[in-house]
Amino acid sequence: MSIDKCTLVELQTIADTRGNLTIVEGGRHIPFEPRRVYYLYGVPEGRDRGGHSHRELQQLIIAVSGSFDVVIDDGQSKKVVRLDDPRYGLYICPMIWRELKSFSENAVCVVLASLHYDEDDYCRDYEAFVDASSSQ
Ligand code: TYD
Repeated sequence: MSIDKCTLVELQTIADTRGNLTIVEGGRHIPFEPRRVYYLYGVPEGRDRGGHSHRELQQLIIAVSGSFDVVIDDGQSKKVVRLDDPRYGLYICPMIWRELKSFSENAVCVVLASLHYDEDDYCRDYEAFVDASSSQ
């Protein structure tokens, strides 16, 4: 898998005088049907999240409030994507190492995930991830 497949998706947003409404429909705006949603918030200054890859899981990561950086890595190339706008989500395909860093104080990170939680789907060892991605 390549980080080039991890695209920033502009989500459908309906804005009027009452505020903004942003929509994510599985299979329509993103290439999977979400089976799980979780969110990260209250991340202390200077602390990082992530630091793993997934064998099968696809995700969409959204900064619904505040901002943070997502470092994506396919074992050969790395890229930093700053998320700071709730109208965009970062699609992450399987076999991408990701680290979430530089959270602003008010940051809320919502993650839509294609599968239920399964620790067996995680790779938490970077060297093992690089080995697995180079043998694909
Ligand atoms: P972890 O995936 O390490 O968090 P991060 O998003 O920073 O990579 O998850 C932290 C803990 O929460 C770990 O013990 C696994 C547990 N967890 C669940 O039980 N269900 C979930 O859906 C998620 C994402 C994590």
